[in-house]
Amino acid sequence: MTETVLITGCSSGIGRETAHCFLEDGWEVYATARNPADIQSLGDAGANVATLDVTDEDDAERVVERIVDEEGRIDCLVNNAGYAQLGPVEDVTTESVESQFEVNVFGPHRLLREVLPHMRDRRTGTVVNVSSVSGRLATPGMGVYNGSKFAMEGISDALRPEVSEYGIDVVLVEPGPVDTAFAERASDEVEGLERSDAYETLYSVLDDTEAVGGGGPGAVAPRRVAETILDAANLTDPAARYPVGQVAKVAMLGRFVPAKLRDKFYRLALSLVAKNPLGD
Ligand SMILES: NC(=O)c1ccc[n+]([C@@H]2O[C@H](COP(=O)([O-])OP(=O)(O)OC[C@H]3O[C@@H](n4cnc5c(N)ncnc54)[C@H](OP(=O)(O)O)[C@@H]3O)[C@@H](O)[C@H]2O)c1
Repeated sequence: MTETVLITGCSSGIGRETAHCFLEDGWEVYATARNPADIQSLGDAGANVATLDVTDEDDAERVVERIVDEEGRIDCLVNNAGYAQLGPVEDVTTESVESQFEVNVFGPHRLLREVLPHMRDRRTGTVVNVSSVSGRLATPGMGVYNGSKFAMEGISDALRPEVSEYGIDVVLVEPGPVDTAFAERASDEVEGLERSDAYETLYSVLDDTEAVGGGGPGAVAPRRVAETILDAANLTDPAARYPVGQVAKVAMLGRFVPAKLRDKFYRLALSLVAKNPLGD
């Protein structure tokens, strides 16, 4: 029988490409987004489309029930929907931190709780959580986003041995910069901050869209991430985590640098930016 995948955040970027990759590989695809008009083209390409805001419990329940009714199985859940709340930690309101965790952490958890009982019944399945290099290495100006992806990593690492006896795999996909709408959305979030006058240099970095990811140097195409997700779903024994792109692989090495030394490096980098502002 055809395998079935549920993907969140298919309106653009990695989610959209992932839906295409699974379709091309012959999967039954349930592509979801907050606004169904954004995924009409995926419907035309052969996907089942559904409205799903990951912050909405009823949406998550309704979509999973529909898939189980129609297909009798969910073989793979791709928790992809997410965005980056950037900004100096002090300048991000608690409300914005809550919104960040609602989408990036509670959303995936909500879907997990709906999907896992069905995977356990059938004693098979793969959960792919789209994390980030930012889930492994924290950087100034990204603390709140780092926090959300670190949380996703921690939950995934605990979940993996919990569900392995039921034949369920849990995989983290960890891209570096990817050429999607992600950086523009992140810039909008930075623009919306009430800026203290304490972090001017950091803001000069954050105001440069290329420096916060997206189409900057070293960025990979979303297709590359989508193919990694598909490969993980197709493997019988996937790895726990898959960094994607050279930037991710090199940046991950930063985890092995002692924290105090890493702090010094960040302070030095920021002082160099202060002397030679980006774009000059
Ligand atoms: N691009 C990068 O540099 C990069 C690097 C590492 C990791 N990632 C991760 O990759 C994932 C996908 O990002 P992307 O690069 O493809 O960015 P993107 O093009 O901005 O796509 C993000 C997707 O998440 C959706 N989304 C946001 N809030 C949602 C909600 N409440 N409910 C449902 N969907 C929601 C967006 O839908 P709307 O159109 O409705 O907003 C959009 O479909 C994210 O988890 C991100 O953290 C991205």
